[in-house]
Amino acid sequence: MPSIEIRHISKRYPVLDTEQIHALEDINLTVRNGEFVCILGPSGCGKSTLLEIVAGLLPPSDGEILLDNQVQAGTNPAIGVVFQDAALFPWRNIRGNVGFGLELMGRSRAERKKKADAAIEMVGLAGMGDKYPHQLSGGMRQRAGLARTLAADPQVILMDEPFSAVDHLTRLSLQEEIIRIWQKQGKTIFFVTHDVGEAVYLATRVILLSSRPGKIQQIFEVPFAHPRDRNSQGLLTIVERIYMGINNPLASGDIEYNL
Ligand SMILES: Nc1ncnc2c1ncn2[C@@H]1O[C@H](COP(=O)(O)OP(=O)(O)OP(=O)(O)O)[C@@H](O)[C@H]1O
Ligand SMILES: [Mg+2]
Repeated sequence: MPSIEIRHISKRYPVLDTEQIHALEDINLTVRNGEFVCILGPSGCGKSTLLEIVAGLLPPSDGEILLDNQVQAGTNPAIGVVFQDAALFPWRNIRGNVGFGLELMGRSRAERKKKADAAIEMVGLAGMGDKYPHQLSGGMRQRAGLARTLAADPQVILMDEPFSAVDHLTRLSLQEEIIRIWQKQGKTIFFVTHDVGEAVYLATRVILLSSRPGKIQQIFEVPFAHPRDRNSQGLLTIVERIYMGINNPLASGDIEYNL
């Protein structure tokens, strides 16, 4: 069953009375249940715009988003978002931050504690629930942000460059963590990055957007099971093909719409 259908999505931001920025042009994509899709593209091509539209945080200028065949209007608890900056509340401990969404949903204190602690454990922060954000490293805060999204148990997780603010080694370990969680929980993941190696290492499919207005330029299947070897010939060949696509933005041979 299709999970997310992105149909004819375009976005133009009004900037002045007479001008607008054309951020996205006619994006069509079906993300199947349980897929791990990475959206790759140059800075300013509309990746975050697309993610915010899928999340229901931003209305498109044209087109529609369907979740399990239902047209979406606004946000939906089945879709969780993880941003680049975990944006934790400094006055709440980690358990309080992770349980915040559940609090908004009106869940009891006992249920919040149980689900928050399970999510905290899942992201590798077991025992850190009583700490405050300033007591954690950047990577740990990012894990806490991920736990906050997981605690609400959304079917789809949208991630906007979630690891770009952490150091390289932390980033590698967070990549392992997200793969482990994706495999264990069977979530659908829609992951924005501008790192080609990260996209190919994580994704089952990489969607390359062209520069603004963002259009789907090429789609690359990554048909390898996890755990993957970053240096395997199969992954390196796909990395190379993606760089060719980035360097030859007019090449259109590989365009494959998956409607
Ligand atoms: N609220 C806004 N008002 C006007 N223009 C905007 C707004 N938000 C984004 N834009 C413009 O739309 C285009 C796409 O922005 P977006 O943030 O989606 O790109 P991106 O691919 O996520 O870039 P990056 O890789 O730098 O995060 C950019 O030119 C940006 O300046
Ligand atoms: Mg962005």
